[in-house]
Amino acid sequence: MKSPTGCPVSPEAAAFDPFGASYQLDPAEALRWSREQEPVFYSPKLGYWVVNRFDDVKAVFRDNITFSPSIALEKLTPAPPEATKILESYGFAMRRTMVNEDEPDHMERRRLLMDAFLPENLEQHETWVRELVRDYMDRFIDKGRADLVGEMFREIPMTVALRFLGVPHEDAKELRKFSVAHTLNTWGRPSPEQQLQIAEDVGRFWKTAQDILDRMYAEPTGEGWMYDSIRMHKVHPDIVPESYLRSMMMAILVAAHETTAFATTNAFRTLLSNRESWNDICENPALIPSAIEECLRVAGSVVAWRRIATADTVVGGEKIPKGGKLLIVQASANRDQSHFENPDNFDIYRHNAAEHLTFGYGAHQCMGKNIARMEMRVILDEFVRRLPHVHLVEDQTFEYLPNTSFRGATSLWVEWEPAQNPERRTR
Ligand code: HEM
Repeated sequence: MKSPTGCPVSPEAAAFDPFGASYQLDPAEALRWSREQEPVFYSPKLGYWVVNRFDDVKAVFRDNITFSPSIALEKLTPAPPEATKILESYGFAMRRTMVNEDEPDHMERRRLLMDAFLPENLEQHETWVRELVRDYMDRFIDKGRADLVGEMFREIPMTVALRFLGVPHEDAKELRKFSVAHTLNTWGRPSPEQQLQIAEDVGRFWKTAQDILDRMYAEPTGEGWMYDSIRMHKVHPDIVPESYLRSMMMAILVAAHETTAFATTNAFRTLLSNRESWNDICENPALIPSAIEECLRVAGSVVAWRRIATADTVVGGEKIPKGGKLLIVQASANRDQSHFENPDNFDIYRHNAAEHLTFGYGAHQCMGKNIARMEMRVILDEFVRRLPHVHLVEDQTFEYLPNTSFRGATSLWVEWEPAQNPERRTR
């Protein structure tokens, strides 16, 4: 078997399956062989060049001209004609949305819409995020057992995203379901039957996005990032066109919701499986921010992203032809021993943990990274004070939504002894 450049494909590269169990369970481990032997390889099953080492992944992220992000949201599994028909019946016409835009449009728009994401403008949200977290914890704190994903982690990031955007909360339940459909639709290998259901869900998501926008147009002084974007559209219709707003509404809900829900799930699982680290942050909550970075490094929620080569080029010594598609595996880069000492050790005191590539890098680096970090910090802070004795339920099985890029268990069961709760609710 040969790659598009005519080079032989190694047996490991030929066998690589990003929808198989080993990649789903632990992508960094599944690609250890590649980091060690063949850091850039062509995957015939995927039709992508897979990039694994830290320096190569960072270099690809950094150069968004040679490596265009235009395919970042392309469907990995083409839709059958019936699914396309369903989407057409909803008038589905998703446009590029920041994350997959080329320059110079991307940067012009990013600059106009960035203000609300700056750390100094996020501070105002922390009080209500903390209140929200405490409310969710109150619902189960006396029970002694909970599935943190179902009872809390899946809901909080959506609620936070909606409030940040200014979208009414009554739409949350439906939107949450839609965003899962969008993930499978974009990065998954859905069966033909699933494709039809997904097309329905995505189509309804598209319609709901417009209904919400219509309601927002009617309130010119509304607060939230979508309102800011609507106002920017009125001042700069060429840079923020109307059609862009609808696509962006859909894309940002997905960007903000599952990424943060999974990152929080992964962080709790990692910290509770490393009891010494958990005990350290309980004793000294000032360690939480660095513990979060280490969790994002070893168990990030976005494990791989995509780019396409706009010219013949070379990555990690491997020739990539113009038009070559790249899967850049952040999870693998984050475990590269040439950048992180003893990369498989979980170490909340690691000096360079924050250099992980989970949020991407360069011109497109995640705009919401500080929102995600704040949510995770507040959740952990409340847990170490109110439920320091929480532990994982033993022998539970973890399941994942099969896809290349978004990773997090669909449930996380924990237990504790309510009689030992240090506090119920104090304000
Ligand atoms: C882009 C990861 C949370 C909004 C991205 C990218 C990644 C990512 C990998 C692409 C970066 C690149 O191409 O270089 C994550 C992770 C999150 C998270 C791991 C949680 C732990 C959020 C949240 C929001 C958000 C909470 C919004 C409230 C965005 C936006 C972009 C983006 C708007 C596009 C930026 C651009 O292309 O200029 N994110 N994200 N993300 N993310 Fe996040």
